[in-house]
Amino acid sequence: MSATDTLSWGEHFVLGDARTDHTHQEFIALVNATTAAPAGQKLAVYQELLQHTVEHFAQEERWMSACGIPSDFCHFGQHNSVLEVMKEVERRALNGEMAYIGSMIEALVEWFPGHAESMDAGLVAYLQEKGFDTATETFKDGAPVAAGAVAGDVPSCGHEPGHACG
Ligand SMILES: [Fe+2]
Ligand SMILES: [Fe+2]
Repeated sequence: MSATDTLSWGEHFVLGDARTDHTHQEFIALVNATTAAPAGQKLAVYQELLQHTVEHFAQEERWMSACGIPSDFCHFGQHNSVLEVMKEVERRALNGEMAYIGSMIEALVEWFPGHAESMDAGLVAYLQEKGFDTATETFKDGAPVAAGAVAGDVPSCGHEPGHACG
């Protein structure tokens, strides 16, 4: 275990939304558990991480959709790209090419802090501004945003305004 294949939960990861923070703590624990797993269990633990990531991303995407954020917004795209690669790594590991799991973990360790601190932080701020309660997945004023997000009204993704995220 080293800094390139493990993540440590710390103050910088706290985004101030209990459900998001809890999910991110679980994600970090599963990344580290995959690294720590003995060879015979590595694939099974990786599959747990993959399933958790499917649900983790789906949760954030459900919240974005509830706010009317279009599915071509870059946050969705980044999730899709990561999941595609994670699933390909599972396919290869099932074929006995286990080394890909280690490379995937290193890529996730490099990718996750930036994603959490930009896109997920932007989403949390946006949901709070819209009065969306992630515990109940409802709007605090009881009125769903029927019209959805208007053009340009999307959470900060850490990119320059007007930047075509891709
Ligand atoms: Fe996240
Ligand atoms: Fe995210």
